[in-house]
Amino acid sequence: MSRAWALALAALLAGCGAPAGGLRATWRGTFPVPWRFAAPPAPVAGRYAMVVSDEPIASAVGDTILLKGGNAIDAAVATAFALEVVLPQAGNIGGGGFLVYRAADGRPYTLDFRETAPAASTPTMYLDSAGHEIHSSITGALSAGVPGSVAGLWEMHRRFGRLPWRELIAPAIALARRGVVLDAPRAAAFDDSINRARLGRFPSSVATYFRNGRPPVEGDTLVQPDLARTLELIADSGADAFYRGSIARAIVAEMRRSGGIITAADLAGYRAKWRAPLETTYRGYHIIGMPPPSSGGVTVAEILNILEAWGPLPRFGSAMLLHVELEAMRRAFEDRNAYLGDPDFVTMPLARLTGKAYAESLSRTIDPNRASPSVAGPAMPEGHHTTQLSVVDPEGNAVSITTTLNDDFGSAVTVAGAGFLLNDEMDDFTSRPGVPNLYGLVQGEANAIAPGKRMLSAMAPTIVLDPRGRPVLVTGSPGGPRIITAVEQVISNLIDQRMTLAQAVSAPRIHDQALPDSVFWERGGVTPDQRRVLEAMGYAFRAHPIVIGDVNSVLVTPTGLEGLADPRRGGAAAGW
Ligand code: DON
Repeated sequence: MSRAWALALAALLAGCGAPAGGLRATWRGTFPVPWRFAAPPAPVAGRYAMVVSDEPIASAVGDTILLKGGNAIDAAVATAFALEVVLPQAGNIGGGGFLVYRAADGRPYTLDFRETAPAASTPTMYLDSAGHEIHSSITGALSAGVPGSVAGLWEMHRRFGRLPWRELIAPAIALARRGVVLDAPRAAAFDDSINRARLGRFPSSVATYFRNGRPPVEGDTLVQPDLARTLELIADSGADAFYRGSIARAIVAEMRRSGGIITAADLAGYRAKWRAPLETTYRGYHIIGMPPPSSGGVTVAEILNILEAWGPLPRFGSAMLLHVELEAMRRAFEDRNAYLGDPDFVTMPLARLTGKAYAESLSRTIDPNRASPSVAGPAMPEGHHTTQLSVVDPEGNAVSITTTLNDDFGSAVTVAGAGFLLNDEMDDFTSRPGVPNLYGLVQGEANAIAPGKRMLSAMAPTIVLDPRGRPVLVTGSPGGPRIITAVEQVISNLIDQRMTLAQAVSAPRIHDQALPDSVFWERGGVTPDQRRVLEAMGYAFRAHPIVIGDVNSVLVTPTGLEGLADPRRGGAAAGW
């Protein structure tokens, strides 16, 4: 379809479509002086359609699909496959994820394509008889769950897609076959010493990504012929190629070579599952979130409910706001870590946890003058291994997808001959109750490993509707547990502080996840004054700052759309 035709179609459909509004930005404050995003970036403006992802080429691929007359699901599928090629550290066909979809007719849907534990897995598979870790749940084939992404993308397209499946994968195939020039952020991930060492342990990863034994650098062209072939098979034969065909055989062969336990039966038995969306309200706005096995929707809802019960929030920049936020986060994470898991395996008090009465009772336990007690915790890594894409199409369909390999480059194991990395999502389970995982999360029995079970996630793809039920925000983030607090803070910045999207996303963030019980902060994002006040209240700040999230969003305004890639990672929005 020509661009002119697409614009005409879009204009026709706009009546039933995107522009809505309901979020008025009036914030006149400033960010702390050394804060690196003190001058927020300009969003990309569009009238009808917008794609935001962590990689400019991937966003352009999605945008092209929308121009061809594809809908938001088509664009998201094409963008996700392109991300597999241009952002190998985050995947995603060797990993899994979640979709939150709000159709233009007003109906919400959520699709769970989270990895599952292989049939041969056991609750103590990473421990010896004395309870010490013997096998890594982070690096190597044993750390991989059964991948869900291809099944998820296939299922969302089967149900809601418009353009032919092949057409959506064609751009990714071309990018893999012809090669992509690595830009600075993408090259930096390969150059990281830990990533280099992890990838270097596996000959198939060295063969796929390294040249003459060295990782690629900025400006190098990454050509991925094996991946191009894999994507062609998926384009020709759909998800079957991955779960029952030659790609499945390549995965099983890799398991034999590298000591993993995923079998042909595990792959053949994998299913993406439609789940009932987790819906809640915040100060009259309607929030559509991801239910378990992600903790994202429940925990974002619980934090927001506690804030709502607190009353009008203190102004942005005050130590008091940070205090209330941290206390709300801490309480919600305590529940997350104790109660949540795969709904097919555990019963969870979801109605209570997301209820307003419960939030009211929790908010009453916040002492305005004092922090809850603190204990020391483990170090926290930073990575670029999860990725968020947000799409709105001319009809008003809205898509939020987060996918992940878990750690940077997942398990670091590339499936030989197939050219893609496998996840290390098994680490999201509770390997040992009371012992922190990669993200320092201390989790309970509800999230113990069991065959076929899905490991608890923090991913929080989210769509916010205004009080009249019109979409205003499509959002989500990577960042492990920081996903939850990053998404929550962007929503609160928009609704409570009345910031613009650029301000709300660029604003410095804080994070608390109950255990380790200390304040996570961003460099230059907390002023010395704020810190002094909080420390006097009893807060312990972590020694080193970290990056908190990477929130890629589309905002629906009264006149159109704004797309904004979080400046923390440098993705891109593309729209028209
Ligand atoms: O599902 C989860 O919660 C984690 N596996 C996500 C990891 C992540 O976001 C890492 N991102 N930078």
